[in-house]
Amino acid sequence: MLILGIDTSCDDTSAAVVYKDNVLSNIISSQVHVHKDWGGVVPSLAKRKHEELIDHIIELALTRSRKKITDVEAIAITIGPGLAIALEVGIKKAKELALLYNKPIIPINHMEGHVYSALAKNSKGKPDIEYQLPMLAVLVSGGHTEIVLMRNHGEYEILGQTLDDAIGESFDKVGRILNMGYPAGPVLEKIAESGDENTYSLPIPMQHSKDLNLSYSGLKTATMRIINEEIGALNSFGMKFAKSLKALSYLDKQTHNQELEKKNISHIIANISASFQKASIEQVILKVSQALDILRGQGIDIQDMIIAGGVAQNKYLRKKFRRVFSYLRIHYPTSKKLFTDNAAMIAVAGYFNYLNNKILTKLDEINKIDRLPNWKLNEI
Ligand code: KG4
Ligand code: ZN
Repeated sequence: MLILGIDTSCDDTSAAVVYKDNVLSNIISSQVHVHKDWGGVVPSLAKRKHEELIDHIIELALTRSRKKITDVEAIAITIGPGLAIALEVGIKKAKELALLYNKPIIPINHMEGHVYSALAKNSKGKPDIEYQLPMLAVLVSGGHTEIVLMRNHGEYEILGQTLDDAIGESFDKVGRILNMGYPAGPVLEKIAESGDENTYSLPIPMQHSKDLNLSYSGLKTATMRIINEEIGALNSFGMKFAKSLKALSYLDKQTHNQELEKKNISHIIANISASFQKASIEQVILKVSQALDILRGQGIDIQDMIIAGGVAQNKYLRKKFRRVFSYLRIHYPTSKKLFTDNAAMIAVAGYFNYLNNKILTKLDEINKIDRLPNWKLNEI
């Protein structure tokens, strides 16, 4: 089964070709540079960029896989969740191709795509991934934080999710105040490496709640307050703390005393970053532990866990998960492109949906496909 996948759910335009669950090509055009001045994704800009890029990206995906559109046996398209006007661009293109070349369509939930990103193989069918269902999927990205029970292929239950900001979003917001650019997650991780994670004790928001939901806005606010207190007080140059990293380059030109202050500020930033990272990841660990306890209590034996989405690249998170859940097999996506939004994960999800007969071949069914911007995994 050769599948063309398309994803335009947020700020990446992506197309991919897979043979079953083997990825033959995976082309992603990131729009990060378009949105970075706004510190987040601007839907109307995303839509326009998708429209400009989509034909070229699909062509590239086909060329890289050495396949022609006529070889493709089905088109897997993300119909939600995501930005409505961005999703529409990909859906329109998928319908156009389906009608023109007489191909069936497999509508895909973007979060289901993230689940399958950890089960995707390369063009040679590697790695061999052994897993047993049901399993747990932890989805941590810029837009989502979800703990999901995957009972079977296509059968999901959301056990817990964030009530406000997503984990990646909180890294981005804290990092923005510290002038780390966008997206700030990877920069914050790097800076945190030289900090002491026990300097500040930050709240773990849902620590005492009985449910499995998470929350990041309180942690973000507490971190912002520390930034204000620590750097605002230290910076005697009359610069706002929000410019603290810029202040560092300014201080480069200053005298020995100021050199000392520069060291202090970068030290404090590293300590704040490390403390924030620790608290933010501890919350996920805590809720995943609780989820596993509850499932065990229900007689559900979990042996395998998927961790996917942009934040799953964080090495500190991986180390913690490896240590705390050493008795589980943990599956991460096996290539960099599979972590962030990409169409290969959509196409691989498409393959498993095809095996479950969730494929639309009739013209009237295809015409009726519509975007579902708030489509939840448990509503599949
Ligand atoms: O999966 P993704 O592209 O976002 C959504 O689909 O929503 O992931 C991007 C997010 C950003 O918030 C980024 O800051 C975060 O993942 N991220 C990280 C790291 N790498 C990417 N966060 C923490 N540590 C990292 N190493
Ligand atoms: Zn995503």
